[in-house]
Amino acid sequence: MKRQRIGITLMIIGMISGSSASELTQTCRGCHGEHFERRALNASKIVRQMSAEEIERALHGYQKGTYGGSMKGIMFGQTKHLTNKTIRMIVEEIITDCKYTKLPEKNDSKIITHSVIDIFH
Ligand code: HEC
Repeated sequence: MKRQRIGITLMIIGMISGSSASELTQTCRGCHGEHFERRALNASKIVRQMSAEEIERALHGYQKGTYGGSMKGIMFGQTKHLTNKTIRMIVEEIITDCKYTKLPEKNDSKIITHSVIDIFH
């Protein structure tokens, strides 16, 4: 029940912020969070807090096997088929998303609910 409510709340926030995950970054969001606010598999940095240059460098590095920690194999799988142009588009999409979506301080359902109420009032 609680979980369902959080789900619906997040959906409303998504609608309000007008975000729609494109196909390019949909898989990424599965691990990194809807707005790149999570540590993927508890291992990655929070991509939201990285600059465009850092993200781009990381993606190229994973592709070449020159960047990353113990789980870099996962990101190699995610990046090996990407062209430079696609990587650029992905980075742009992430940066735009992070610029236009405001997240609550903590990912706490109470805080999220409050922010929705604030928006509606
Ligand atoms: C299956 C889960 C998964 C998916 C899907 C995934 N990632 Fe990751 N990502 C990870 C993990 C785990 C790491 C940390 C890897 C390591 O040890 O370096 C990571 C690291 C990163 C980093 C660097 C963060 C750091 O710690 O330096 C970036 C940027 C990134 N991912 C972007 C993406 C993008 C863009 C996509 C989609 C094209 C994507 N990821 C898809 C799990 C995932």
